Amino acid sequence: MTWEGAGRQKQLQMIWPERLLDRPPRPELPEGYELRCYEDTDESQYLQLMARAGFDNWDHDRLERERPSILSDGFFLVVHRATGKAVATAMAQHSPSELHPCGGVLGWVAGDPEHKGKRLGLAVCAAVVSRLVQAGYRRIYLQTDDGRLPAIKSYLKLGFEPFLFCEGMAERWQKVCETLGWPRSPDAGQ
Ligand SMILES: CC(C)(COP(=O)(O)OP(=O)(O)OC[C@H]1O[C@@H](n2cnc3c(N)ncnc32)[C@H](O)[C@@H]1OP(=O)(O)O)[C@@H](O)C(=O)NCCC(=O)NCCS
Repeated sequence: MTWEGAGRQKQLQMIWPERLLDRPPRPELPEGYELRCYEDTDESQYLQLMARAGFDNWDHDRLERERPSILSDGFFLVVHRATGKAVATAMAQHSPSELHPCGGVLGWVAGDPEHKGKRLGLAVCAAVVSRLVQAGYRRIYLQTDDGRLPAIKSYLKLGFEPFLFCEGMAERWQKVCETLGWPRSPDAGQ
């Protein structure tokens, strides 16, 4: 989920604080939904879900490009029991980078707008963080954009903290937190 080309601003980043590594979050779902791992037969409904969440350039090849980095048992779906439909998703990925040399990433969080307001995003994110912790990652991070408020609210509620890795980040986070009415937390890093 990175684009840092000319004229485009860097994405926001958040990290899971080390002090919470021994307290991974537990996914909680409302009645009528269940959490399970993605299976190959889910591809078509997964791509439909991604499109409904606004990621409309996802197709088979796009998914295949992500596959090598996804941890085993680290690709989650929330399913609506009554319809059998996949309504939320996220993945745990091995994603080392210059800023996060041994990093694991919470990637591709998406939810069906028809099922919004039930904190299903929070549940899949909790499952991913828990899987990354279980796999031994000590640096767990994510990338997002300033306008993705439901996602950012979910990340903050879960325990992620803003990662101030370059100039301008503190100001951008200030604005996001003000918009969400979220008290500015201690900075995770500079
Ligand atoms: C991220 C996503 C999965 C969350 O879906 P969800 O779990 O159904 O989210 P909810 O509707 O329960 O909202 C989560 C929180 O954000 C809050 N929220 C929702 N819209 C908001 C807005 N416009 N402004 C401020 N807060 C908002 C909700 O009130 C809720 O807070 P609460 O738990 O304190 O009540 C979904 O919004 C999505 O697919 N977005 C598009 C894709 C995306 O942005 N992915 C993340 C990429 S980094």
